[in-house]
Amino acid sequence: MFTISTQIFAHRGASRYAPENTLPAFEMAHEIGVDGIELDVQLTKDLIPVITHDENIRRTTNGTGFVQNYTLEELQQFDAGFWFSKRFYNTPIMSLNEFLHWVKDKNLLINLELKTNVIEYPTIEKRVLEQLYDLDLISRTVISSFNPQTIQRVRELDHDIELAWLTKIQVRRIQDFISEIGANAVHIRSRLLSSKMVKFMIEEQIPYRVYTVNRVSLMRKCVTMGADGIFTDIPDIMQINKS
Ligand code: G3P
Ligand code: MG
Repeated sequence: MFTISTQIFAHRGASRYAPENTLPAFEMAHEIGVDGIELDVQLTKDLIPVITHDENIRRTTNGTGFVQNYTLEELQQFDAGFWFSKRFYNTPIMSLNEFLHWVKDKNLLINLELKTNVIEYPTIEKRVLEQLYDLDLISRTVISSFNPQTIQRVRELDHDIELAWLTKIQVRRIQDFISEIGANAVHIRSRLLSSKMVKFMIEEQIPYRVYTVNRVSLMRKCVTMGADGIFTDIPDIMQINKS
């Protein structure tokens, strides 16, 4: 038996087995035994951080319309489980606050991806940080975003929290870029693994995590290349192959 230092994050929870970004998916990930959970955060009309991937609820609920046009109470009338399977009928969208209370007493890392790349959601950074302060969760949370301005805003508000910039593409001078925005790490799409950028990050010991890793061969490659973490929809397969 050998152990690996690559952390396993359940991507949107155990999203192959339960509706993404919902409590059943988070519970399943916890039962499987992951290191952490990745989830996506948007902001409601009444400015409450809520967990859902898309700006529009059409794909993942029985409703339609933009998250930003519903209050939390209105959003929670929709069913975020039935589309996935009848078994999950009546699963509500979860607020970030509900998730943080759930995760508080569990030995899990938290990766909050702030979905500000399409809609900017002014004040989302401050609101998310306030909830983390209230529950004393800063030290086991990584905030990530594709939007560099969000990373910058969080860094201005908090000097300690771990911040990761998310990218699907290679950028030149990655080290300068992340230090300019105040990020500590980079979360990369898996197809970038063979890029010059990653080679450079490995040489310079810039922490990086890889999404979305759903093949064992890819997971092995990430481990061999010293990735700090992977995001996967099927965390149990990774677990079986971890030992
Ligand atoms: O945070 C990693 C990954 O979740 C980024 O892409 O679209 O799955 O949120 P997406
Ligand atoms: Mg995400």
